[in-house]
Amino acid sequence: MKILIAYTSKHGTTAECARILAERLGVSNEIDLVDMKKRSADSAGKYDTVIIGSSVRMAKVSKQVKRYIKDNKEALADKQCAVFLCCGFPDEFEEYVDTQFPKDFKPSLGYHCFGGELKPEKVRGLEKLLVKAIRSSITGHDFEDATYTGSLPEIIPEHIYMLSDKIMNR
Ligand SMILES: Cc1cc2nc3c(=O)[nH]c(=O)nc-3n(C[C@H](O)[C@H](O)[C@H](O)COP(=O)(O)O)c2cc1C
Repeated sequence: MKILIAYTSKHGTTAECARILAERLGVSNEIDLVDMKKRSADSAGKYDTVIIGSSVRMAKVSKQVKRYIKDNKEALADKQCAVFLCCGFPDEFEEYVDTQFPKDFKPSLGYHCFGGELKPEKVRGLEKLLVKAIRSSITGHDFEDATYTGSLPEIIPEHIYMLSDKIMNR
């Protein structure tokens, strides 16, 4: 089976999830892993299965992901397709799906939340302050406390495995 995993990632979390997915699916499939911030993905028509991933920033998914779905809508409707998101507020996942994707775009393998990370050490400039502020709003801990990990979001490997199993068992 020929599989496209096309994603965008700002600080590496979505890229890491895409890599884990590719590693699991690559055992018995041909995988094209494409960072859409670096190059465009080929048209969906070339693949049996298309997986699209984006992180959420300021409640939005990336413009490259939106564009790919718009440009390939008909081809995607005819094949195995899934979308996954990485976000700092997994509780808002349904809201992101509702607001960020066309109502008539219903990927056959569904929408998936792979969790997210809020790691100030991976972020530069003003965004570092924002990540620290989000962390402290979640934890209630001191603004500068970058060591606390108690209730912070993380990648959810089980959700990645669930999607890869779903694809392999079809
Ligand atoms: C500037 C900025 C804005 C963010 N905005 C949101 C947001 O609106 N909603 C959310 O759930 N997470 C938000 N996050 C958290 C990211 O989705 C999370 O850190 C994710 O793991 C980033 O994935 P990436 O490294 O692949 O870009 C934001 C993070 C940053 C740095």
